[in-house]
Amino acid sequence: SVFLTCRLKNSIGRKKFFNFSSDIVRQLSQQVKQNESFVPFMDVIKFRREEARRSILVQVQSAQSFKELHSYCNSVGNVRQMLHYTVGVEPLNFIVVEFASEKDVTNVLERSSYLEDSQVVPVQSQFLWFRASNRKLPKLKQSKSAILSIENGNQCVTPSEIVNLLSKCDSVSEQMNVLYNSTKLNDLGTRLRFLTARQVENAVRGMFPKAKAYPFGSSVNGYGKMGCDLDLVLRLCDDKVKNDARLMFHCKGLVGSERTASQRNMEAIGDLLQLFLPGCSQVRRILQARVPIIKYYQQLTDVECDLSMANMSGVHMSDFLYIMGSLDARIRPLVFTIRKWASEIGLTNSSPGRWITNFSLTLLVLAFLQKPINSKPILPSLNTLVKLAEPKDSYMTEDGINCTFLRDITKLKTPTENKESLETLLVEFFEFYSQFDFASKALCLNESVAITKPEHCALYIVNPLERGLNVSKNVSMEELDRFRVEARNAAWILESQENKNENWGILSIFENKRKASSVVNFAFANKHGRLVEVSTLFEENTDKPVEYKNASVK
Ligand code: GTP
Ligand code: MG
Repeated sequence: SVFLTCRLKNSIGRKKFFNFSSDIVRQLSQQVKQNESFVPFMDVIKFRREEARRSILVQVQSAQSFKELHSYCNSVGNVRQMLHYTVGVEPLNFIVVEFASEKDVTNVLERSSYLEDSQVVPVQSQFLWFRASNRKLPKLKQSKSAILSIENGNQCVTPSEIVNLLSKCDSVSEQMNVLYNSTKLNDLGTRLRFLTARQVENAVRGMFPKAKAYPFGSSVNGYGKMGCDLDLVLRLCDDKVKNDARLMFHCKGLVGSERTASQRNMEAIGDLLQLFLPGCSQVRRILQARVPIIKYYQQLTDVECDLSMANMSGVHMSDFLYIMGSLDARIRPLVFTIRKWASEIGLTNSSPGRWITNFSLTLLVLAFLQKPINSKPILPSLNTLVKLAEPKDSYMTEDGINCTFLRDITKLKTPTENKESLETLLVEFFEFYSQFDFASKALCLNESVAITKPEHCALYIVNPLERGLNVSKNVSMEELDRFRVEARNAAWILESQENKNENWGILSIFENKRKASSVVNFAFANKHGRLVEVSTLFEENTDKPVEYKNASVK
């Protein structure tokens, strides 16, 4: 991702502070040197996982404790970086301490202890707290090997700060870049998510030494904002089966069907989180869903988690979205703006339902960028990436989902000739979907063209990795109409703006202009040149639409 690239570039710039001892860091930094802008997704994941293994999270009295903590940690190991953050309104203070090696963390944990209290579960993990000491600690020598940051690194830009920043921009395109840069997930946010994953992995490591918990979704695909949730897939044995082994492990057989067995296993993991793991709270088991998940809140890292034990297709899907976002600098700001627009006007909603999800919305943006925009497309089809795949790109999940496509996009030699501004792309996006023939067409990123709908559904977006499935099956006709109406509205607002008023540019499309019980009316010409009138009636004093009168053709 862009921020990782920058971070690594900075690291190279500040080489004297870093010791590139690990192979991964060396390999990554070389890649970044050779290629200014792209690190393959799986290398980023490896790098972040390794960084989490070298880190601990420590609750402290206040940000000022960092000196004492630094002294202590540096007397045990070699501290590379310390990052402070807070959680809550009456803030609890935490510091992430990154060491030079995993051995340092082992040494720190060996010297750590439990409260002398029989009322606690004596779990050992990388999550600790720093006890006040009466003993005088050696005075802090400002170590050149460590970078200490006592800013609250977990702070999100407030809505009013965003408005302020955006209102000062000179153009809509600048606003979109500013929105992206000021709200995207930062380095600390990423570290906290990988530490959260590491906690789960560690918890099962005694029985499952090859277990891995992979973050996927917006935490890693390049479209995550500060505070986004963490999607995790826990794999109990993420290792290739050795065909030539002579000694085999005794293992229990699955009880019942694969689904029932997996639900029981997840229940046990849910209990583990709830009973034993520090910081894991509000554990909810949603085991009847198509993909059973456990939702919980990790209060020490301030992260909402969705844990599943399904196959790796979600991780490969994240890789695909990451690749698409890395192909052109305009893609992530465009996706951020459209996700923000949809959230501000209530098209998306954090609870699941018949509304469009952020994931579907992202695919809609990518599908739009694959079509010629003023005769030049920006993104290639997935089929193009599949054709260019090399043997090392070949992945098949255990249930037969083929996730083979080119991972290293530096091999894709034809950058787009499309040079349209972000503003143009935004308006074109709204125009495109306000006129799209959703009734008979499905979006298909594999082929970059709209195909005939395979089955009746309001919105059909072919799942790029499982072509028989529709990722937006949940979307109702009302919600799709609302999306179309709002897209038309947004295009109209952006195109008709002449002067900068207080809330100009993208701020004007984020405004929810609907008043209680008001009816929004407008008309547009459909593809047959006929006038279509659309109106929406809202429930009194709320933003809840109660009636749609769309497509009254005159
Ligand atoms: P936010 O969490 O809203 O920031 O976005 P997100 O991209 O993380 O979406 P979400 O948490 O809903 O889903 C996480 C990931 O799961 C997505 O990025 C997809 O890879 C995958 N996913 C979500 N919904 C579907 C679906 O309907 N079908 C399939 N196959 N995968 C899905
Ligand atoms: Mg998510």
